[in-house]
Amino acid sequence: MNQSPYILAIESSCDDTGAAIFHGSQLLSNLTANQKVHEQYGGVVPELASRKHEEHIIPVVDQALAQAGIDVTQLDAIAFTVGPGLLGSLLVGCSFAKTLAMSLDIPLITVNHMEAHIMAHFIEDPKPQFPFLCLTVSGGHTQLIIVHDFHEMEILGETRDDAAGEAFDKIGKYLGLSYPAGPIIDKLAKEGKPKYKFPKPNLKGYEFSYSGLKTAVLYFLRDQKKLNPDFIQDNLSDVCCSVQSVIVQSLMDKVIKASNEYGINRITIAGGVSANSGLRKALENHTDEKEWDTYIPKIDYCTDNAAMIGIAAYYKYLKEDFATLDITPQPRLKLAT
Ligand SMILES: Nc1ncnc2c1ncn2[C@@H]1O[C@H](COP(=O)(O)OP(=O)(O)OP(=O)(O)O)[C@@H](O)[C@H]1O
Ligand SMILES: [Mg+2]
Repeated sequence: MNQSPYILAIESSCDDTGAAIFHGSQLLSNLTANQKVHEQYGGVVPELASRKHEEHIIPVVDQALAQAGIDVTQLDAIAFTVGPGLLGSLLVGCSFAKTLAMSLDIPLITVNHMEAHIMAHFIEDPKPQFPFLCLTVSGGHTQLIIVHDFHEMEILGETRDDAAGEAFDKIGKYLGLSYPAGPIIDKLAKEGKPKYKFPKPNLKGYEFSYSGLKTAVLYFLRDQKKLNPDFIQDNLSDVCCSVQSVIVQSLMDKVIKASNEYGINRITIAGGVSANSGLRKALENHTDEKEWDTYIPKIDYCTDNAAMIGIAAYYKYLKEDFATLDITPQPRLKLAT
């Protein structure tokens, strides 16, 4: 078994087309083509996403190879996101990866997108030791997980309804912000105060819920606008700060509870919402207080990217965990436990 294979990794689960090249565990290139087309609709339009993936995938892969300084014939394996995600989007990456692997006669590796968000911690140093807790907060998921090993992950709890990222995006829509609103709310929150008290989602155990918060903000804005039609523009940063604060607190409560209950003080965060400065700061503050050993990924590795797919694929390559060419996308794939 070649211990330092050249692996091309492809990510196309939602609206970002990513390609990365690894040489062993070393990342050589990592490119993402974003899709601006969805902004005008306030959310991802699946049919448009898959068409854009078709346009982007060949140029993105070509650039990833060029930046890595290798020729396509030097590749030892092709990895791609098999799920979860949008069927049409996954299909583009899957078909491309299968075709290339078949034409080069090299192994094909499937990667679970949510496992890859966690594996983003192994792209660069310092890397967490097992076991560790991971709070995965993204556009489609909110999960608290004990990571026992590379492919042994135990979900303690997840959201019953909306993900934290979706709450950011939908509340942003109510505020007239463009999609994705998470980073915009984050920026505006820095200039505001947590003046408004929204109900903190508080489910038993390790479950999360954000649909109630969305409704509470919707009704709050409706009532305030009756009193002052300019309420949103007059108070935008305070509303953003209040929303972000309650989301961050609800996430932190569960992480603290799990750390205490399971006696694990290695804490990691993953997924797009882990780019949130309020969450990062709250984690840093608790780290000082509780002597946690905390790992926060680089912003580039938080939102969807192919580097996280590549590092997950590298560990599967070492185990010769290869897929066959009859594999099809799995839009509702669960985390391997
Ligand atoms: N700084 C930030 N603060 C808050 N949310 C953010 C920030 N940056 C990105 N996000 C949110 O992260 C989400 C996108 O993350 P990611 O790309 O991991 O999700 P996804 O791939 O759409 O979903 P999943 O990984 O569950 O399939 C969006 O909801 C976006 O608003
Ligand atoms: Mg994602």
